[in-house]
Amino acid sequence: MPAETAPPMAAPLLDVRDLCVSFPSRGRMIPIVEHVSFTLGERDILGLVGESGSGKSVTAMALMGLIDSPGVQITGSALFRGQELVGLPQKQLRRLRGREIAMIFQDPMTAFTPVYTIGWQIDEQIRAHERLSRKQARARTVELLAEMGVPDPARTADRYPHQLSGGLRQRAMIAMALSCNPSLLIADEPTTALDVTVQAQILELIRSLRSTYGSSVLLITHDMGVVAETCDTTLVLYSGRVAETGPTDALFAHPGHPYTAALLASIPPLDGPRPHRLPAIAGAPPPPLERPAGCAFAPRCAYVHDTCLPAPPPPLVPTGYHPLTAQPDEASAHTSAAGTSPPPVQFAACVLPAEGTPLPARLTHSELSTKPNFDTPDQALPPPTSFSSGEAHQ
Ligand SMILES: Nc1ncnc2c1ncn2[C@@H]1O[C@H](COP(=O)(O)OP(=O)(O)OP(=O)(O)O)[C@@H](O)[C@H]1O
Ligand code: SF4
Ligand SMILES: [Mg+2]
Repeated sequence: MPAETAPPMAAPLLDVRDLCVSFPSRGRMIPIVEHVSFTLGERDILGLVGESGSGKSVTAMALMGLIDSPGVQITGSALFRGQELVGLPQKQLRRLRGREIAMIFQDPMTAFTPVYTIGWQIDEQIRAHERLSRKQARARTVELLAEMGVPDPARTADRYPHQLSGGLRQRAMIAMALSCNPSLLIADEPTTALDVTVQAQILELIRSLRSTYGSSVLLITHDMGVVAETCDTTLVLYSGRVAETGPTDALFAHPGHPYTAALLASIPPLDGPRPHRLPAIAGAPPPPLERPAGCAFAPRCAYVHDTCLPAPPPPLVPTGYHPLTAQPDEASAHTSAAGTSPPPVQFAACVLPAEGTPLPARLTHSELSTKPNFDTPDQALPPPTSFSSGEAHQ
């Protein structure tokens, strides 16, 4: 009997490969986002997480075609339902924005003009994409505001942005973003400015979008707690490069990269006694102009050793922990030749040594700062993923 063949998996909604963004500065191109790859499935929520300056917003803005800095260089590929976004003319990008892809920001005031009521602005957005009368558009606006949990939506529609609370403004902005039923919502720190209770309500609203609107969400945040509560898949960015990516449950249970582990260690525990002080990651990410050739996390890493620095940036490797049945060599972060997506598997740019494994000699702080080849990528030393990568956590 012929072996049963598995049904083909649906192509991802968004398939980003090797996205690089560089800005010119002092006569040379400075890489800000380097070789970022991920896929986002239909109705999935992917969390893009990292500290300030890691390139989260630049990644999103590049996908939306919203970077207009002179001389910016964007390379790689971002297929949205098979359509290439990188290099797409602005006219076509404008057509996609609002109708297929919408974006919301930390500060709703950037989305609303202060001199018009929020209802008028949402009406206009609807009418820009659909042939509706003003009355029909207003009815849709009120309905959307109600669906976003805005109390007394008809009256709220007649208010100016500054007359609403932060939480209501955020709901109104999500209503405007959803007014044309986009397949993809990019939410850039949508809850950072809100207090904890309102934050929880907005996250709940974002989670519900997949069932009510069928939308997928790319959620940008610096908060691992938000990711844990909201996202199916997580991508950890450090200094413009992917440190680790995988299903949220797996990545939280078995972080491969020391940076992911350090971020997780800094989340307050949900139960049990609260620690007197949460561990923080000492230091700060390097500014783009000072990004080292090797692992950019090295100056802050508890495991740094002498092969970490002169090597080129470590490549992503399967961590050895696979929540699904797929094996590392079967699984790939890339779309297969048949155009289908493999199940998501965890990948990291460094793999923590398995418990009990002797650690390689750690570099001291003074060795780190005096390492002469810190910025020379051509040294022929093995890459730092060599803590028996693929063996840890097995
Ligand atoms: N137009 C630009 N020209 C030059 N550099 C830029 C430009 N936009 C952003 N950058 C730089 O790119 C880096 C990443 O910025 P980005 O805004 O993507 O960070 P982020 O991860 O979103 O941080 P935050 O959490 O603070 O929002 C920063 O060092 C920033 O200064
Ligand atoms: S490559 Fe080295 S410095 Fe970078 S995270 Fe891994 S152990 Fe730390
Ligand atoms: Mg940002």
